[in-house]
Order: sequence, then structure tokens, then C-alpha cells
Amino acid sequence: MVMALQWYPGHMNKAKNQVQDRLKLVDIVLEIVDARLPFSSRNPVLEQIIDQKKHIIILNKSDLADPKVTADWKVNFQQEGTNSIEVDAKHDKGLNKIKSMIRTELAEKIARYENNGVQNYRIKAMCIGIPNVGKSTILNRLVGKNVAITGNKPGVTKNQNWLKTNIGIDLLDTPGILWPKIDDPKVGMKLALSGAIKDKIYAPDDVAIYALNFLEAHYMDQLQKGYGLTNADIFNHTTPELLMDLTKKFGYREDYDRASRRIIDDVRKLKLGRLTFDVPGEFYEE
Ligand code: G4P
Repeated sequence: MVMALQWYPGHMNKAKNQVQDRLKLVDIVLEIVDARLPFSSRNPVLEQIIDQKKHIIILNKSDLADPKVTADWKVNFQQEGTNSIEVDAKHDKGLNKIKSMIRTELAEKIARYENNGVQNYRIKAMCIGIPNVGKSTILNRLVGKNVAITGNKPGVTKNQNWLKTNIGIDLLDTPGILWPKIDDPKVGMKLALSGAIKDKIYAPDDVAIYALNFLEAHYMDQLQKGYGLTNADIFNHTTPELLMDLTKKFGYREDYDRASRRIIDDVRKLKLGRLTFDVPGEFYEE
């Protein structure tokens, strides 16, 4: 049975308060999400708070996500009033557009400063994201060799981790760890499948069966090609039977856990192509 992951309200409240406190120090929030999970890798509790600020969604790991669905998500976010940008921090793609998007978002404020004689205003941005979305990779890329951690210096409040970039933006990293909020077991499955939460939390066969079901519904071609399956292989079997058949096909006898781990690994390593696990609209129908 698929269980909802336990979630600690105390931890979340602490993170929420820390984000809330620091919001007044910044001009804009950069919310980093996994492009394969633009819904499930967001934290709804934080969304409510950051709504008070200018805000950009960074869809990272876009190299792993289905480009058509990424485009749909960008439209979806735009319709909700938030601009988003796709990047691939691992291969340093798209990050140069972050600066121009931030400047567009803050155009009024920057113009106001310039009209008052303040040139080269250094924008202050806070980065938030649940673990494993690639926040450190993005911060390292943006900061580059010019890293200057200004926290714990005179005049800078203790425990604030400010990073200086050479693109006119100072970045405030969020303190602590912002765990995802997993009320919906499907969200837990998707986070497990992407590798965002530890593999030991869910049984591999639960995650693999979830993956096979999802692939049957959304990426049938990729599933068939990836594993050399025919229509009959899929339509004449339930998903657990399909997992059993694949286990045999892989030569793993009855080691369903091994086959499950392989399927999860194949999904993560693009053996079944670029996949996005969250579909815009899907979450609003239920
Ligand atoms: P975090 O601070 O948000 O927790 O994430 P972090 O930057 O540590 O990145 C988590 C993993 O995601 C790392 O992989 C990192 O290389 C990978 N990653 C970050 N951005 C991208 C991206 O745009 N595309 C892809 N494909 N991967 C990305 P790892 O397995 O921990 O390390 P490694 O495989 O890089 O050695």
C-alpha cells in the first residue's frame, strides 16, 4: 500500500518563519523547482508566503524533462501570474537569462532608483527550493569564482548566507532545509521516482509500478521502445504483471526488487527518454 509520507509541522513552521523573516530583505524570490516535477517539487506552504513578493520560478533539470510539457508549464505559470524560466544548471544552460528576467520583473523599482540618481542598484534575491532540485548547483554557477560569503561579518545579520555575483545580484540562500510537503501519496511517488527523496522511504516495487502506470498513460511509445514491448504485452496485463514480465525479460528471475530498481534507474537516466511526471491541470481536476 502506498502511504503518505510523514511530515513534521514543527520543521516546516521553522522554515516558513525563516523564509518569512528574510523576505523583507530581498527584492525578489527565485523559487527553484525540478522541471520534471513543477508541481510536486514546490512547497505549497512557502508558495503562500512568497506570493507577497515578486517571484520567478526556475525550472531546473530541464535537460531531463519533456520539452513539450515544460512549455505547457511555462504557459500555466504565466496564466497564474508568475514568470518562469527553464534552465539546465548541470550543463550551464539558460542561467544567463535569469538576470534579464529579474531586471524585467523589477523594472519599476530599478527605474525609480535610477530616477533618484541611484545607478547600478544591486538586486537582492532569495533562492528557495526543496532538497535536490539543484539549488547549490545554480548558486555555484551564478556565483562562479567571485564567491563572497558575506554572512557573519559586521553589519550583516548572523546566519544569513549572502552570496555575491558579478551580474549585479546578491543572493540570499535559504537557511535549513525546506522539505517538500507530501499530503498526496502520488506526490511522494513522483519525488521518489525522480530521486528527490531517499530510495529507502518507499518500496521499489511501489515506485516502479507507479512509474509503469504513469508511462502507460503518458509515454506509451517511450515505454514500448525502451523495453521492446508490444501492445499485447501491455494491454493484456495488469501493471504488476508487466513488472513480473519485465523482471523475466531482464533475466532477473523473480527478483522484482532488482527489476524495480532498474526501472527507476532507467527513468532517472533517460533510458526511456525525457519525461515530466507532473502534467499541468492534473492537480486541479481531483
Ligand atoms: P540541492 O542543492 O537543491 O540539494 O541540489 P544540488 O545542487 O546538490 O543537485 C542535486 C543533484 O542534481 C546533483 O546530482 C546535481 O548534479 C544534479 N543537478 C543539478 N542541476 C541539474 C540539471 O540542471 N540537470 C541535471 N541533469 N542534473 C542537475 P548528484 O547526483 O548529487 O551529483 P552528480 O551526479 O552531479 O555528481
